[in-house]
Amino acid sequence: MKKIVFYGGGNIAQANIKGLISSGIKKQDILYIERNIKNKEILNKIGVKEFSLEKKFDVEFFILAVKPKDALNAYAEICINYNKPKIISLVAGIKSKKYLSIANNAELIRGMPNTAAEFNKANTALINISSSNASFKKAKNIFSKVGIILELDKESKMDDFTGLIGSGPAYFFYLLKVYEKRILKMCDGDIKKTNEIIGNLLEGVSLSSRNNLNMDELIETVASKKGTTEAGIKEFKSLKVLNSFEKGIIAAIKRSKEISNES
Ligand SMILES: NC(=O)c1ccc[n+]([C@@H]2O[C@H](COP(=O)([O-])OP(=O)(O)OC[C@H]3O[C@@H](n4cnc5c(N)ncnc54)[C@H](OP(=O)(O)O)[C@@H]3O)[C@@H](O)[C@H]2O)c1
Repeated sequence: MKKIVFYGGGNIAQANIKGLISSGIKKQDILYIERNIKNKEILNKIGVKEFSLEKKFDVEFFILAVKPKDALNAYAEICINYNKPKIISLVAGIKSKKYLSIANNAELIRGMPNTAAEFNKANTALINISSSNASFKKAKNIFSKVGIILELDKESKMDDFTGLIGSGPAYFFYLLKVYEKRILKMCDGDIKKTNEIIGNLLEGVSLSSRNNLNMDELIETVASKKGTTEAGIKEFKSLKVLNSFEKGIIAAIKRSKEISNES
């Protein structure tokens, strides 16, 4: 099989690499370019090998997974070294026209996954910028191994997806800090037990959401008239918690748009 090369081997690359390996992709078919010693050590432990642009491997895809500030240089470097590289950029914010203004010899795809790829539970948005249909199909095949894919019809939707889904896991971790604090107390500081309880709660929520009920219907399955849940939800409503939560997401979407204008 041709190689999949992750350019940048940090959080999102590691999550996808672990997910791809557990879905059956062979470790030797995944390579990485990374300068950070800590990340190199983690990648070596996972069992994937380092790639060098000078060695002309047969590469199926370069997956760009560096921070936005490093993305254009990394993209340019690939395009100088390869004739018609297939590049999937997972970088938030940077629009295709920025890449294509630097070099237009690549088959370019943009993708936005999240770290749940590690458990094959990612939601990944993909948009075909300048790749062939056959290459795009292969890209969809790769990312569907680590979760669900959503094919976007407009690049502008990438910013919304980034704010909602790319950043999404962190919002839930943030909200769950309340649970962490309170359950930790009940479990006399036992963090393992606390995480188990939170994990089970979330898995239960996740499985319930597969029942094809909307969120209000799901709330009804828990709440009863004048009960504890109703009291809690009433207080959230009076504090306009949903408004605040949505404002946070809107700020993330705005930031995604800003990043594309800064680079
Ligand atoms: N994390 C997420 O949940 C998530 C979700 C969706 C999309 N993304 C996107 O994915 C990208 C990466 O995010 P991340 O959280 O994985 O970042 P990260 O953990 O910082 O990983 C990026 C890695 O790439 C390395 N790197 C940068 N330029 C390099 C170069 N020229 N040669 C070799 N290595 C290089 C960095 O090294 P240094 O540490 O030395 O800079 C770093 O180790 C971002 O653009 C982000 O928008 C992230």
